[in-house]
Amino acid sequence: MCGIVGYTGKLQAQPFLLQGLAALEYRGYDSAGIEVLSPDGSLHGVKCQGRVATLTQRCQTANLVGTSGIAHTRWATHGAPSDRNAHPHVDCSGRIAIVHNGIIENFRELRAQLIASGHEFKSETDSEVIAHLIEDSWNGPAKGDLLEAVRIAVSRCEGSWALAVLCADAPGQVVCARRRSPLVIATTPDGCYAASDITALAGKAKSVIQLDDGQLAVLNPQGTCSVFDEDGNLVAEPTTMTIDWDASAATLGGYPDFMAKEIAEQPEAIRRLLKDRLGKHGIELDELTMTDEELASIDKVYVVACGTSYHVGLITRDFIENWAKVPVVVEQASELNYKQSVLVTDHTLCVIITQSGETADTLTAARRLRGLGCKVFAITNVLGSTAARESDGTLYIKAGPEVCVCSTKAYTAQMVGAAFLALRLALAKGKMTQAEIEKKYHQLEEVPGLIEKVLGRSWQDKEASRVFRRAHSSLFLGRGVNSTTAAEGALKLKEISYLHAEAYAAGEMKHGPIALLEPGFPVVAIVPQDHVHDKTISNIQECIARGATVVGVATDGDEDVAPLCSNVLWIPPVPDEFLVPLVAVVHLQMLARYVALDRGYDVDKPRNLAKSVTVE
Ligand code: AGP
Repeated sequence: MCGIVGYTGKLQAQPFLLQGLAALEYRGYDSAGIEVLSPDGSLHGVKCQGRVATLTQRCQTANLVGTSGIAHTRWATHGAPSDRNAHPHVDCSGRIAIVHNGIIENFRELRAQLIASGHEFKSETDSEVIAHLIEDSWNGPAKGDLLEAVRIAVSRCEGSWALAVLCADAPGQVVCARRRSPLVIATTPDGCYAASDITALAGKAKSVIQLDDGQLAVLNPQGTCSVFDEDGNLVAEPTTMTIDWDASAATLGGYPDFMAKEIAEQPEAIRRLLKDRLGKHGIELDELTMTDEELASIDKVYVVACGTSYHVGLITRDFIENWAKVPVVVEQASELNYKQSVLVTDHTLCVIITQSGETADTLTAARRLRGLGCKVFAITNVLGSTAARESDGTLYIKAGPEVCVCSTKAYTAQMVGAAFLALRLALAKGKMTQAEIEKKYHQLEEVPGLIEKVLGRSWQDKEASRVFRRAHSSLFLGRGVNSTTAAEGALKLKEISYLHAEAYAAGEMKHGPIALLEPGFPVVAIVPQDHVHDKTISNIQECIARGATVVGVATDGDEDVAPLCSNVLWIPPVPDEFLVPLVAVVHLQMLARYVALDRGYDVDKPRNLAKSVTVE
């Protein structure tokens, strides 16, 4: 995934373009670039490998002057991170510049055709073909009309794009196009702003235009924007959406990094989500757009997601199977998309879980299940995301922008959203009474306070992080719902500290991974007071017998655990063992953060990763 921004208006373009890139940098950060239309009538730009900060430094000497421009921060797909593969890309004349988020799937044949007709390429990217296609149509059928030139150009492309185009011979205009990669536009008295998502537009406007698939837009310096369909017809009423949070939500707000901020925001995010959700008829979940009768007929649930959201899917299964007694299949989206047989019934509900709402694997899986006749319900954090627009119903977890590449507050909020779904199903299928649902709801209401207690114990995680100082690998063990907690803890550690971590069902460890254990080998064991507590204690003893160093995640006062572990990350008693994952994971988030900081890494922008993977 990459981030693109564009501006045209009465202000200098460079300040917004660089600020916008900084806000979007979580989408990708291996290289960045900017292009501005100078008063001398030519395009001037800077682009380089590295972070937006590097580009900003370069711009201080380049001093780009002009009131219209485009910019890009990249997560490389085709072509290694380098100065020449950074966007913007220009055509042969240097008079047309483009920035692109997405993939041009037929770029090889287009590139060959363009080279054969005399075009010269400067990069190895798929995106550069777009600049040359626009050049062709600009000099041909479009007769110098930039909108028409872009429209014809993208009609020759297959794949996905969010595009912003600048042309020296169409001064003041920025033309945008969208297909499967998000693009929003704000129109203001200062001019028009375009961006991959609203994070870059916070504070610019309260309402934005959201381009739909196939649409194009012409942004004018007077602050007006015209939207067109893929045939070039004007769209009288483009889709709009309201930005439901202010600019401060996407800033650090005094925290050392976004990961710390977003870990700390979890109690409030859950409280916001829980507010007014308990009705006289179970959980209020109108977003599900299904009647009690339709819900009562559901005989299978298919949950599809990726990464941390896939772990939410595993917890969703435990909630639904235990409360609503409906069988659940949980699949990693990238696996489901290439399975020969996907077994659904006439009454299978598909649930997709995706913080960004733009993860390509998950979107493809949802389209496949919809094609098999399933209704699709999305749990997401991004208003107006593709997942939301393509689903039959969407629950917004409203956790606020999650800027840190590794997901924390969305993980716990998505689990609460999954609990709503499970309880709604349980009532419709007569598996839980109103009273039982109310009890479960009030137990959920306790969770924010329990998380706040854990947040106050971060010193335990900081101390325990020393256990990993000389480690080259680690094991995370848990049973039942907490085998998922182990999986999420291992993922957090891997993705920000680059230390290998493997999660395993604690009871399974003796069937192989126990061979890894040697003196000092770090093992994290999630061992709350639950029905498998004593079994997990036995697994901890098996680890210690082989010299491993065990960090326990245990319930306050558990005297069985304390003597066995080098460190204990204590959690307060949780009213229902199925809710332990919501509380225990916070320790593992903080532990991973301290290990990564101890190693000197950037916890918000870990290497090789992007916030949402919009390519399959
Ligand atoms: C989570 O810490 C990771 N950054 C990653 O696994 C993420 O959860 C995954 O890419 C899915 O993203 P989504 O929730 O936006 O679909």
